[in-house]
Amino acid sequence: MLEFKNVTKQYHSGVFGTYITKAVDSVSFSIDANERIGLLGESGCGKSTIARLATKLLYPSKGNIVFNGNDINRMSAGEIKEYRRDVQIVFQNPQQIFNPRMKLYDTIAEPLRLYKLTKCPKEEKEKIDEYMSMFGLTDDILSRYPKEISGGQAQRIAIMRIIMLEPKLIIADEPTTMLDVSVQAQILRLLQNIMDVNKTALLFVSHDLDVIRAMCQKIIVMKDGRILEINTTEEVFEHPKDEYTKFLVGKTNLYNVQSVFTA
Ligand SMILES: Nc1ncnc2c1ncn2[C@@H]1O[C@H](COP(=O)(O)OP(=O)(O)O)[C@@H](O)[C@H]1O
Ligand SMILES: [Mg+2]
Repeated sequence: MLEFKNVTKQYHSGVFGTYITKAVDSVSFSIDANERIGLLGESGCGKSTIARLATKLLYPSKGNIVFNGNDINRMSAGEIKEYRRDVQIVFQNPQQIFNPRMKLYDTIAEPLRLYKLTKCPKEEKEKIDEYMSMFGLTDDILSRYPKEISGGQAQRIAIMRIIMLEPKLIIADEPTTMLDVSVQAQILRLLQNIMDVNKTALLFVSHDLDVIRAMCQKIIVMKDGRILEINTTEEVFEHPKDEYTKFLVGKTNLYNVQSVFTA
């Protein structure tokens, strides 16, 4: 469904753009419909860059990103609108998608209105109520502003807005890293249940082994912008091939750890 073909992304920084960071280096992988893939690697290895490239928030320096046979960076305006519905991103900090001056009711209704998914205000309200209870949220929240809710509630609303659009692929970039452990577990379970019902594909970005293990059937291991290993979750944990993966999953000794860091 979504395919990265030799994708490279360089950032230029400094006053004259003279500093170049190769955040993602010749990366290739694909996600099939209904597949749940984890993107695992330490901070700074390029995970968020991949998430942003896949959602057209960034443009690749080299290579192609193809969705159902269409290069996402060569789409017509109509195709882009459809793509932005089909492929959704959940950010680490949900507050970044909220307009601080908009009441949460309107924030939630926004995508429904954009894609004309409900016919009248009454139907809109009914749909929002239905999703609010599905997400375990009470409707007194609807008249509040984004800063008046907790981090867990904010992330539920951010995910709810996405689920209402029935996307084909969800890209979640460390969606629960900012939440405490019990809230984290609730939200991941909710996401899992909904994806089971809707048969949504998932690219789950995380540095957290346990979370990725629980959420994904396949894992892509990254380091310094490159893919080291792509395998089933079981293989990655039981028989990791790469030295760095062995280190990540704890199947290595100190001697090998040294070689990972000096390589
Ligand atoms: N806008 C930017 N300008 C320059 N360098 C950046 C920018 N965004 C990210 N980087 C660098 O690119 C690399 C990958 O970053 P990122 O994709 O955010 O990694 P991760 O999500 O795995 O922590 C890092 O070295 C980071 O410092
Ligand atoms: Mg990141």
